[in-house]
Amino acid sequence: MAPATLQKVIVVYGATGTQGTAITLSLLQSKQNFIVRALTRKPESEKAQKLSALGAEVFKADGFNDDEMKAALENAWGFWLNTHHHDPAVTDPEGPTDEDLGRRLATLAAEAGVKVFIYSTCESPAQITNAKAPVPGMDAKSRVELFARSIPSFDAVIGAWPAWYFENFLDPEYAQAFGGFPLYPDVEGYLTFTSPRIGGQGTVQTVSVADDFGEMVHAMFLDPETWAGCTVPCMSDSFSYEDMVEAFMEVTGEKARYIPMDSYRDFPTHGSTILEELQDVYRYMQSAHGWFFGKPDDVATCQRLKDKARLDKGVAPQRVITMKEYFAKHYGGK
Ligand SMILES: NC(=O)c1ccc[n+]([C@@H]2O[C@H](COP(=O)([O-])OP(=O)(O)OC[C@H]3O[C@@H](n4cnc5c(N)ncnc54)[C@H](OP(=O)(O)O)[C@@H]3O)[C@@H](O)[C@H]2O)c1
Repeated sequence: MAPATLQKVIVVYGATGTQGTAITLSLLQSKQNFIVRALTRKPESEKAQKLSALGAEVFKADGFNDDEMKAALENAWGFWLNTHHHDPAVTDPEGPTDEDLGRRLATLAAEAGVKVFIYSTCESPAQITNAKAPVPGMDAKSRVELFARSIPSFDAVIGAWPAWYFENFLDPEYAQAFGGFPLYPDVEGYLTFTSPRIGGQGTVQTVSVADDFGEMVHAMFLDPETWAGCTVPCMSDSFSYEDMVEAFMEVTGEKARYIPMDSYRDFPTHGSTILEELQDVYRYMQSAHGWFFGKPDDVATCQRLKDKARLDKGVAPQRVITMKEYFAKHYGGK
């Protein structure tokens, strides 16, 4: 009798989160017979249960608990790691940082024998701008990726760098932080988006995590030797805020407008670490020709990744989503 093919186990950290869910859902449709081990601290949650129903091996593990993580990583071939650097667990000045957590989990993965390590990352704004515009949380993720690359037992270390999420445009908190668009009209009846300017050509690189990013990361697991040592910018579309409100009006018939701020310092932060970081991100983009990835857009590579994943799933090819299509999908029926 022929020996059964050994199934590769891919562990997805943060599987109930925005990035982790998209990656888990795409990998579950792979024809490669992967075992997708979805990590969560709350296996009984609705999101975890949905993944379980679709075939994921839901596994309880807290990233700060070494024993749980060692058990979670047992027999794993691949490991997707995305830690949330605004999580209160890593923002306490007395406690571990997001960088500490990332380094620890990369080390545990190597010790467990993981071969392919894919990390949700970014390149360092401090390096890209010659220290003119650091973004500490992003700079730290870049250091974790470099640390992982220095671990010799990994066959491939790949950085997947998500652009600004399209999903932010569905989030009431983001809408409020940016003047109300696309959810709350202002006193004059406009859906107003207000922000500092992007810099350069004034276009913002954006990715739909659910539509595209999950498939892009799926494709990296299919072909890790091609992407080993790379930090891959992941985006679906890039557009100006002026074009964005215009497209939203066309799709919905509602009144929308963009009001630029004079300086990145004018962006209100309300004491939130996320909004404080956004000030830094706008300063960074203004210092980097408006290029979030520190270089011109490369949608072709993103499309190539998406095509590869969809071929593996046996579903029809699809273009990475455009801003207008995204608004039509989520707001078109309003
Ligand atoms: N918003 C944007 O435009 C954007 C763009 C690029 C990058 N990012 C970055 O993306 C990151 C956030 O990713 P996301 O949006 O996927 O986050 P998310 O939706 O908040 O998901 C985070 C997941 O991590 C899990 N988790 C949290 N603490 C954990 C712990 N101690 N141990 C194990 N699991 C834990 C949670 O799962 P359980 O509760 O089930 O355990 C949760 O599902 C941030 O660093 C952010 O800066 C965001």
